Amino acid sequence: MSYQTEYDRSMNDPEGFWRKQAEALEWFKFPQQIVKTEADGQGYWFADGQMNTAYMALDHHVNTGRGDQLALIFDSPVTHTKATYTYSQLTDAVALTAGMLAGLGVVKGDRVIIYMPMIPEAVIAMLAVARLGAIHSVVFGGFAPPELAVRIDDATPKVIMSASCGIEIKRTVEYKPLLDRAISLAVHKPESCVIYQRPQCIATMTERDYDWSTLLAGATPVGCTPVLGSDPLYILYTSGTTGKPKGVVRENGGHAVALKYSMSAIYNVNPGDVFWASSDVGWVVGHSYIVYAPLLQGCTTVVYEGKPIMTPDAGALWRVCAEYGVKALFTAPTAFRAVKKEDPDALLMQNYDLSQLQTIFSAGERLDAPTETWLGEHSGKPVIDHWWQTETGWAITANLQGVEPMPVKLGSSTKPVPGFNVQILDEHGEVQPAGTQGYIALKLPLPPSCLNRVWGDDNKFRDSYLAFLPGYYTSGDGGYIDEEGYVFVMGRVDDVINVAGHRLSTGEIEEVIASHPDVAECAVIARDDEIKGQTPMALVVLKTGSAISEAELHKQLVARIRETIGAITCYKDTVVLARLPKTRSGKTLRKTLCNIVNGREYSVPSTIDDTAVIPEIIEVLRSRQIVI
Ligand code: COA
Ligand code: AMP
Repeated sequence: MSYQTEYDRSMNDPEGFWRKQAEALEWFKFPQQIVKTEADGQGYWFADGQMNTAYMALDHHVNTGRGDQLALIFDSPVTHTKATYTYSQLTDAVALTAGMLAGLGVVKGDRVIIYMPMIPEAVIAMLAVARLGAIHSVVFGGFAPPELAVRIDDATPKVIMSASCGIEIKRTVEYKPLLDRAISLAVHKPESCVIYQRPQCIATMTERDYDWSTLLAGATPVGCTPVLGSDPLYILYTSGTTGKPKGVVRENGGHAVALKYSMSAIYNVNPGDVFWASSDVGWVVGHSYIVYAPLLQGCTTVVYEGKPIMTPDAGALWRVCAEYGVKALFTAPTAFRAVKKEDPDALLMQNYDLSQLQTIFSAGERLDAPTETWLGEHSGKPVIDHWWQTETGWAITANLQGVEPMPVKLGSSTKPVPGFNVQILDEHGEVQPAGTQGYIALKLPLPPSCLNRVWGDDNKFRDSYLAFLPGYYTSGDGGYIDEEGYVFVMGRVDDVINVAGHRLSTGEIEEVIASHPDVAECAVIARDDEIKGQTPMALVVLKTGSAISEAELHKQLVARIRETIGAITCYKDTVVLARLPKTRSGKTLRKTLCNIVNGREYSVPSTIDDTAVIPEIIEVLRSRQIVI
């Protein structure tokens, strides 16, 4: 079938198209209403279907003869550990862990926060929560206690599941003190915490804590609780333009249907194939493509506790692919750039038999042309960039390997995935002609899996995503579509930056910096980075009379940001300025500053209050060798 036929079907008969995809899953009661479209264009999918996502992902495969096939491979170069779980073993482990949580009073609709490193127990925890019809909210292990506290207060979990530690390249991160601090900062207190003790570090327990293994030993396995297609499976927080992260709510029905479809249509993997998304369960890529999609499709998923380099070398990705016969590898451009820097001639790749690897997928940030070319030339495999967001849970644009592989255009994530009506609009909502840059917007209704609410705030979804361009979902990204319908995503048009594929809010970083006693005001902008794509840089104006040196201020800001947001912020530069450029209405010219810092062409709006400030700033940036 051609891409165009498939895509047109999804547009012309969305109900028929998605009913067919839904039939590929085992529902307790098949949905009577496939989609309900509201007056504002919003679509609600499979709302009255009865199901359980963990059942579809695990029990169903055991019941249909896949019980002895590997469901999960754990590979941890940082602890020199490997383990495997068949579908039967994983189902049993999940049923028992669900029983453990049920023993703590967790029932359908309750929230459970999971703050864990990349170990199988993190995946088991997610599926166990899903089995109970409860709602998980995984918080990335690299977030600092205040970030975790914000999520605790928003999701109000009954239970938090965590581990004693995570292992980073140069250090062991003790999670328990971070968790304790987060709970002390939060207003909401969970009833209990279940701590998985790892041998690398044993956590000190408090009266609300339970030892995971001890509790599990006394637990009784439980079955799957039926939920409605519209019931939430999880909440995943993501950075927006404001300081407070948004809790994206993912519904069970649309999520399962879209992910299952994506495995065949986009990734071209079949039941029994090995699929590896080298990410972290704390991010949407981990939720969708380490946990749910591979298991819904009956594949074997790889849980990797390591990095693309230094664990032990830049051959790590290729070693794992060869050792487990990975058919599709999915990771972020940052990982490939790091490998390319360490092993520019890809010599380590040659040590491994990559004959089973069919396709390499990239997402999380724009795949730059030199990296794409390098990877394609050295691996000899198709390198497929695809664009998506936490809000959608799966790709919006891709090169559909399971439908009709199309020629790759460097810098483009190819064409809209069936179900997504992608348009380029100007700020008045006018559709732009081919080749013209604008806001990338998705015409409503959105296809299955995409968010239709933000946890705990009924208006936030509409205000944040729908209000700007009525009838459309605003993606926050800018770009263009060429004459052949290829989509080019050029970057965020809001205050979100992308550091090593991690989405961060400059507003949030600014809040931390502005709280420093010597800082009068600041602007945080993204500075281009060879490996991480972007890193945050602050331009700071000191309070009158402050005598702090730039170096000392920088040191203190680094510490504050690590303690408040987390080390993943990779905060690298502080530049003290006499003043910031502003419009007459007082708006800081962040875009102009960003272009100057990155040596790009910049324009100075006519509304600037004093044109002399720009040459002044350029002079300071030159003296720091930030611009030449
Ligand atoms: N728990 C605690 N700390 C964490 C963490 C976690 N799960 N993940 C990262 N950190 C810390 C790191 O230890 C590091 O701390 P440091 O400054 O004290 O060394 C900091 O956060 C930055 O981490 P990272 O971005 O991983 O940088 P790195 O220099 O350690 O590694 C790369 C560089 C390129 C190998 C790494 O950035 C990478 O693997 N990137 C790909 C990321 C990815 O897959 N993103 C896709 C998400 S879809
Ligand atoms: P997240 O929600 O953390 O997955 O981040 C989503 C954002 O990452 C998008 O809005 C884009 O800005 C960026 N992004 C993800 N994938 C791509 C891609 N393939 N090309 C360009 N940008 C991407």
